[in-house]
Amino acid sequence: MNYDLVSGKSVQRVLVTGGAGFIGSNLVRMMVESGSYHVVVLDALTYAGNLANLTDVLDTERCVFELGNITDASRVRQVLADHKPSAIMHLAAESHVDRSIASAAPFVETNVKGTLVLLEAMRELPDARFVHVSTDEVYGTLGPNDAPFVETTPLDPTSPYAASKAASDLLVQSFVRTHGLDAVITRCSNNYGPYQFPEKFIPLMTLNALEGRPLPIYGDGQQVRDWLHVDDHCYGLLAALKRGVSGEVYNFGGDGERTNAAMVSAILAQTGASPDLCTYVADRKAHDRRYAINAEKAHRELGWAPTRNLDEGLQSTIAWYTHNRTWSDNVRSGAYRTYYETQYNTTL
Ligand code: NAD
Ligand code: TYD
Repeated sequence: MNYDLVSGKSVQRVLVTGGAGFIGSNLVRMMVESGSYHVVVLDALTYAGNLANLTDVLDTERCVFELGNITDASRVRQVLADHKPSAIMHLAAESHVDRSIASAAPFVETNVKGTLVLLEAMRELPDARFVHVSTDEVYGTLGPNDAPFVETTPLDPTSPYAASKAASDLLVQSFVRTHGLDAVITRCSNNYGPYQFPEKFIPLMTLNALEGRPLPIYGDGQQVRDWLHVDDHCYGLLAALKRGVSGEVYNFGGDGERTNAAMVSAILAQTGASPDLCTYVADRKAHDRRYAINAEKAHRELGWAPTRNLDEGLQSTIAWYTHNRTWSDNVRSGAYRTYYETQYNTTL
């Protein structure tokens, strides 16, 4: 813990892996704006990483960026030695189910090996805490009348993405038990909000609706997801950092179960796009039918609860994509890949 001479506040130095991605950039912004954290972002800037997500907070006295791959043990050790964080919030991952179906190897490399590299490096920071950001997808799929997932629901991943996250969760638990690592695991339902890469459902459907392109709905569109606004997820992650008990798992969910078809209807209504754009396409392989989260443990033990109602949150998210077309145009054209190079006068 450091002491900030200007504000007089105590300030924690935290390393955020994957801080240039969707959830990571929202988390970093929240931490910097709170005035309670010095944030070091460690990110490899894969296709999913976009430094433009952080323009307003980057390279301020409270936020520095380190380019690096979490599978590179010497780079990770160097960054930890340079910054000596008191906590790591680990979000870097390959995160898209469809990509894991097309090619699983990068998921094992980053999500399993990369997490192991971080865990080994943590042994040189014995007083630091590790917050491992995982997903409800490790629990597998639910039927329409099944009870929502609790933290003790057996791991039963379907996709290679979910399997790689489950493997990383087990590695974290093994380091808590074997090496006494101070770590908590969080498992969250589907997030929505600003800065999400438009291969994911909500930004993809919103941008296609705005551009008059087809909206590709997998299968019958009756799959259910429990949507949580990214800000609420980030509040939960900070609560887990502060109040989580080492070795414990905490679920976060939005009490926002909705079918994909219902989400598309809301997007069409707000954008004014024609329902004729809806195109039912071949289903995803082994498509999980339903996710739902019981977050009572996080309510009880972390004092966390979602603050955003899905209708209002979705409305403001669609409005964000509608009004930030330069951001989405740069992502869709690939121009965002040059942002780092221009900013730091170097090549990726
Ligand atoms: P994202 O794909 O938007 O961002 C991932 C970030 O990690 C990118 O900035 C990317 O450059 C970076 N990265 C990838 N591989 C890396 C590597 N080898 N080394 C360093 N950096 C690397 O992902 P997201 O949606 O922001 O998800 C963040 C975390 O939250 C992930 O661990 C994901 O499993 C988990 N999660 C996501 C959701 C969701 O709905 N998006 C829900 C629950 C949990
Ligand atoms: P996605 O955003 O990929 O998240 P996840 O697979 O992790 O839940 O997809 C959300 C839901 O939307 C999921 O049921 C798959 C569906 N989907 C489509 O119907 N069409 C699409 O083009 C995409 C990307 C997803």
